[in-house]
Amino acid sequence: MRIEIPREVERFGPVQIHDVQKVWELDSGLKHKRNEPKEKDRRVITRISYESLQEIQEQMAIVVPIKDEKIKLLEGVLAGIPHHCTVILVSNSKREPVDRFKIEKDALEHMGKFMKKEIFIAHQKDPLLAEALKAAGYEYILDENGMVRSGKAEGMILSTILAFLCGKKYIGFIDSDNYFPGAVYEYVQEYSAALYSAKSSYSMVRIAWHSKPKIVESSLFFAKRGRASEHTNKVLNNLMSSYTGYGTEIIKTGNAGEHAMSMDLALNIDYSSGYSIEPYHYINVLEKFGGVIGSPTDDVMKKGIQFFQIESRNPHLHEVKGEEHVKSMSKEAMEVIYRSPLCPDHLKEEIKQDLINRDLIKEGEELPETVRYYPALSKCNMKKFLEVVKDAPYAENFTVDLSNYQYKNGTKKLIRDKVKGKDHLPQAHEKLEIK
Ligand code: GDD
Ligand code: MG
Repeated sequence: MRIEIPREVERFGPVQIHDVQKVWELDSGLKHKRNEPKEKDRRVITRISYESLQEIQEQMAIVVPIKDEKIKLLEGVLAGIPHHCTVILVSNSKREPVDRFKIEKDALEHMGKFMKKEIFIAHQKDPLLAEALKAAGYEYILDENGMVRSGKAEGMILSTILAFLCGKKYIGFIDSDNYFPGAVYEYVQEYSAALYSAKSSYSMVRIAWHSKPKIVESSLFFAKRGRASEHTNKVLNNLMSSYTGYGTEIIKTGNAGEHAMSMDLALNIDYSSGYSIEPYHYINVLEKFGGVIGSPTDDVMKKGIQFFQIESRNPHLHEVKGEEHVKSMSKEAMEVIYRSPLCPDHLKEEIKQDLINRDLIKEGEELPETVRYYPALSKCNMKKFLEVVKDAPYAENFTVDLSNYQYKNGTKKLIRDKVKGKDHLPQAHEKLEIK
């Protein structure tokens, strides 16, 4: 792959957010790692060899969350994932009247035979997984019936534990409703390129789609951004500016469902429910490690956190889930920003106004509280979890070496619940008088 090195970077304490990187060649030819340009010689564009990308993929789990999607779509997605990644399908599909999970499992086993790769499926509502969570002291994502809650985030959190038990160093997410296997392949290559270039072991990469095809007046139109992300990005950038005092447009991937990160980072951030999980990544990293309201993990503060954003080349085409779905996703994204202890009053007003303008709330209405928050997975006792699931059919993939694993329970509090008062909030910037 031939890819631009990031030019702009915004810093927020030890957090670095890199500007969008463009891919110049998806395939830059068969040359070996030893011929890659040295770090100091990398000027504007760099070549990353097959060997380097593969090295990352061997240590990466790709999680595919699925809920009642067409099997043909899933088959395409699985075909697009590079061979060396371990694939974890986490399903919340219906079990009756038709057992869709069974159909997914059959399809997976069938394809697995041909692909000869490490691939397995688990159901989000499997009572064994709920029992393992209880044993591990991580009941936060369980519902009133003691099962894992529904939601994309809840499936992702569960599968992060499974990826850790597979001994993986990186975890990436790919939605199961993607129509283009070529896009799936490209996303994983881009995850690998960014994580390979990362200098901190706490890093994340998010995909900014090049375009999203739509039919407009019976012609194809390639829209640049999704409908929710435009608003999410603007508000996230305004939040950063409130603290730095400089306007910025650095964040272009506020809602990125397609993203990957190092396991070290995945275990250390708090999460939020449903579709708010992706914007909350930015918010929580700023809350937890931005240096404004707390710095709980010394190692993270020392090494820093790096965000990468890569613009993909394939158009992104997925299932249309309807207007209401997009609206509720956008509202959830706004809610996690609005309710963050980092959010200054003037930005809260801006968010409310934006939601009123889009008819998502009424004038004078308070933003409803719909989102749940879950503490970091460092609070999940992995040894105890493994003990419960060790005889499950997929447990043969759990090859992690836990001989040096030490469970540090620490405080169970979420970073957002530790904040008292408003002293950390920035002053509203006075308008500059230009003469
Ligand atoms: N395991 C599991 N559990 N998977 C789920 C659940 C659940 O409760 N709900 C949805 N999924 C799966 C879907 O089957 C799909 O593969 C993926 O999660 C994303 O869900 P969609 O319903 O297709 O979401 P979207 O396409 O509107 O939004 C996507 O893109 C956004 C960015 O524009 C998601 O990835 C969002 O998280 C993202 O913000
Ligand atoms: Mg989708």
